[in-house]
Amino acid sequence: MDALSRERITLRTPDDIARMREAGLVLWQVLEGLVGAVAPGVTTLELDRLAARRTRELGAEPAFLGYCGYPASLCISVNDEVIHGIPSRRVLQAGDVVGLDYGVILGGWFADSARTVVAGKGSPLAARLLATTRGALARGIAAARPGARLGDVGFAVQEHVEGCGFSVVRDFVGHGIGRRLHEAPHVPNYGRPGTGATLRAGMVLAIEPMVNAGLCDVETLDDGWTARTLDGSLSAHFEHTVAITENGPEILTLPPGEALPAD
Ligand code: MF3
Ligand code: CO
Repeated sequence: MDALSRERITLRTPDDIARMREAGLVLWQVLEGLVGAVAPGVTTLELDRLAARRTRELGAEPAFLGYCGYPASLCISVNDEVIHGIPSRRVLQAGDVVGLDYGVILGGWFADSARTVVAGKGSPLAARLLATTRGALARGIAAARPGARLGDVGFAVQEHVEGCGFSVVRDFVGHGIGRRLHEAPHVPNYGRPGTGATLRAGMVLAIEPMVNAGLCDVETLDDGWTARTLDGSLSAHFEHTVAITENGPEILTLPPGEALPAD
């Protein structure tokens, strides 16, 4: 049992959630800028600098920089890298599958979101992997309603991913979020319906499926951070910070009224 598993799940007030949405909107703007900047020839370090600069222009701070010793602002994971890739002088190539995972702090509130895009034109497999992972996140979010169980969320993600012939990473999971980047509960991307904690209005979860085109196994590189698929297959990652309200899930890392793409 780790610390998060023993911790109680904090319920946020509507006012807290409004502040988290402000953090989420800053994050969304930064991610939009990053997505627009991904192109063959760009280095991952340039994207990291862009993220940090835009975040500070918008009055917030990067959330990952220095977290558990993480050495950059952005996590950028390319092709067979799953998550926690460290920005470097690596130059993006046409067809690269580029995972952008970013977090900000605004007024003491955290927001966390990730998207995966292709630099230039991608393969049909990459397109299918991205659509499946995006669709899995949408299904996990839709399951996050008051009275549902955490296992319902994981099941919705897993069923979609495996139905598309891909696999869900188990070594990393989503998390509660609020005053800290990682709060209780753990939010696995697999599970059985009707099991796990009961979801209540006021909970805020970072739901973040990581999906491999091949097997689910991952390994961590010698840099101590980068997680990569063991079989070298492509991997994708999408994440939103989601508040559970009486009216259902509200995505805090999208502008109000912006719908999730239907996949
Ligand atoms: N979204 C990732 C997570 O929730 C990013 C945090 S990584 C770190 O784990 F760099 F901040 F450590
Ligand atoms: Co996260």
